[in-house]
Amino acid sequence: MARNPLEDVARGLRVLGERISATTGGPDPGEWLSDQLRRPEPVRTLPELQAELDSLIGLETVKEQVRALVAFLQVQAERQRHGLPEVATSQHLVFLGNPGTGKTTVARLLAEMYRAMGLLRRGHLVEVDRAGLVGQYVGMTAIKTDRVIRRALDGVLFIDEAYALAVGDERQDFGPEAIETLLKRMEDYRHRLVVIVAGYPRLMHRFLQSNPGLRSRFSREISFPDYATGELVAIAEKLAGEYEYVLDDPAKEVLQRILAGAGRGEGFGNARFVRTLFEQALNAQALRLARIEGAELSELERSELMTLRAADVLAGARALGEEPADDEPRSGLFRRRR
Ligand SMILES: Nc1ncnc2c1ncn2[C@@H]1O[C@H](COP(=O)(O)OP(=O)(O)O)[C@@H](O)[C@H]1O
Ligand SMILES: [Mg+2]
Repeated sequence: MARNPLEDVARGLRVLGERISATTGGPDPGEWLSDQLRRPEPVRTLPELQAELDSLIGLETVKEQVRALVAFLQVQAERQRHGLPEVATSQHLVFLGNPGTGKTTVARLLAEMYRAMGLLRRGHLVEVDRAGLVGQYVGMTAIKTDRVIRRALDGVLFIDEAYALAVGDERQDFGPEAIETLLKRMEDYRHRLVVIVAGYPRLMHRFLQSNPGLRSRFSREISFPDYATGELVAIAEKLAGEYEYVLDDPAKEVLQRILAGAGRGEGFGNARFVRTLFEQALNAQALRLARIEGAELSELERSELMTLRAADVLAGARALGEEPADDEPRSGLFRRRR
């Protein structure tokens, strides 16, 4: 690929910016600089973004709620153009769901949708967790939180596992300071910032209840359910397709049994587990192909390079400590470990 010399310059300045921000405290010219130089994402239209959302596996209720939100926002934007007053409703969101259920993926699309509708100028996503907002010393937290908010301006601030801001019982917990700063800035930058707080449903409800300011500002909740086994298989196939791999039928069957047997609950990684498993299967496939006797790697058929077999999926799963569920009596070879 041809290199664009301007990009090199930009990259150099970005590094410089990062250095500056690493060495200075207080207000942060370096971070500002590196943000300004970040290459803008290609602008996608609302129908394009909607199509990508629709292409996600499952998530029917999420898609419905996003569609409703987009319709509402479009009408609000149209009203604004006609000089009609804005409804005093909060546009900040709560994403409830276990890890790997698609929260970040949807948040990123939604951020772009805000831009496509002309509601946010940049439509980027800044993702942080507690550690990104809370400092170790008195006075640090407000500075840190402010800095993150400045980076997120004109885009979406996504706070993962936001409930962690409120859990500390110790005297020296600065989580509440981050929340106060956040609530204040949400007011100051009402038209330039959308905040999404995300996390496990149970803990998030407790978190929102802990502070009336939070409860009132985050009124819209979107729930991300755990994926069914069939959906996880479909996600694996989609993921494989994106990288031009295919699972042959026995591989799909083994995958299905592994996913059916994996223990569910808050600790289950959902689509993230599928991604990890896929990556492990790629490693196993590479080892298998490299071991084929008498054949040079360079002589392998294209289709061989693309195909993931049952043995690959199985080896990948074992690397993660998973075994297929034993739903086939004759395959006494495979036993559930749980
Ligand atoms: N419905 C889906 N269809 C296809 N891929 C998905 C889907 N949900 C999640 N993924 C993939 O799974 C991974 C984890 O998703 P992510 O959005 O980071 O989950 P969360 O933020 O809830 O932990 C990502 O690689 C994402 O692309
Ligand atoms: Mg996430």
